[in-house]
Parts: sequence; C-alpha cells; structure tokens
Amino acid sequence: MQISPQELARVAAAEAPRFDMYTGIHKALRAFMADTLVAVGRMDPADPAEVAETTGRVLQLLGFCASHLEHENRFVHAAIEARAAGASDAIAHEHEEHRQHIASLGELAGILQTAGDAQRHALATTLYRELALFVADNFRHMHVEETAHNAVLWARYTDAELVAVHDALVASIPPDEMMVISRWLVPFMNPLERFHVVADMRAKAPAAAFDAMLQGVRPCLAQRDWDKLSRDLGLPA
Ligand SMILES: [Fe+2]
Repeated sequence: MQISPQELARVAAAEAPRFDMYTGIHKALRAFMADTLVAVGRMDPADPAEVAETTGRVLQLLGFCASHLEHENRFVHAAIEARAAGASDAIAHEHEEHRQHIASLGELAGILQTAGDAQRHALATTLYRELALFVADNFRHMHVEETAHNAVLWARYTDAELVAVHDALVASIPPDEMMVISRWLVPFMNPLERFHVVADMRAKAPAAAFDAMLQGVRPCLAQRDWDKLSRDLGLPA
C-alpha cells in the first residue's frame, strides 16, 4: 500500500516517542550491508589478496546477520509471542529463509576464496548479485519489524518493560561481538541517537570495555560527530 508523503509526515509528527529497540541496530545492519555490497561490487577479482579481504568482510557481515536474527528470535519474538500469540509468525518464517540465504552466501564466498584465476570474475559477479538480493530482502524485512512489530510491542508493553527485554538481549552478547556491533552501530546513527546509545553503554559496561569501544569507533566518526559526542558526554577536551 502506498502512503502519501503528507500522510507519513503527519503520522511522524503526531507520534509520541516510545522506546524503539529496532531502529538503532537496523541502522547498523543497513550500513554494514551497504558498505559490504559496494565493496564486493568494486572488488578486483584478479587480485587474490583483495578477494580474500573482501570475502572476509562478507563472512563477517553474514555472521553479524545470523547472530542478529537469533537475538530477535530469542528475546524480541519471545516477548511478542508472550502477549500477542502468532504476531511474529510471518517475520519468524522470513528469519528461517534468511538463515538459508546466509548459509548459501557463505558457501559462495568460500568457493570464491579458493577459486582459480579463470573462475573468480564470474563468481564475484554472482556473489555481488546474490548479496544484493539478500540486502534488498533484509531492507524490506527490517521495515516490517520497525513498523508492525514495534506497533505490537508498544501496544502490549510499557517502555520500562521493553528496556528490560533489550537489556537482557544486550547482556547476552559477548564482548568481542559487542566491539563489532559498536563499530557499525555508533557511527551510523544521528547525533542524538548516538549520544543516548553511548551514554547507556557508559552506564552499564565496565569502564575499560567502554573506553575500548569508544577508541574503536572514534576513527569511524567524522570530526563534527566526534565533537558533538564528546561535548554531550562531557569528555575532557
Ligand atoms: Fe529480523
């Protein structure tokens, strides 16, 4: 269904802000997917080192996606099903399809990594096209989660309850995985979202882990964004 831009603007302006556990991590996923897709598109198939590096990035993205959908199944879908049985069925089914797509893309990347010179060009084009379809599917899928799933969560849960669900999800993530997530999460939000996420990390993570995270993401931030973040966090100039 097409909704007019005027109607979308009217709804956005009327919405009271609620706790939204999808939008931040989905900005990270969109950024990681887009960055990896264009990297595969410009990869030189005749350069084995570049092929190894770029397919390594594809495999890291696929690992990120697999882990993300497990987090959603285990924490978010469980919360939806607890108070609105059946409301996560369609998206859970898509997660199954994504799992299969992730496995076949991983196999394709593995074949490309070990292919001879003669095969790499065609395989690189195939990987680029298949990854593009996966990204397209995920972009549409994430939109459904951010709209339909959030609508169910907001109707059945208070913000405090949603924060508790999200905290339990984040607490289940091991530190090394959290570093990868932060690298894609923090730089690709807007400054207000970034401040809230980083301030929340500062409140909940051990100081050494927080400092390592901040130093890890700093090179990925434009100077203007870093200046705003350090000002809002009250970091020493
Ligand atoms: Fe999902």
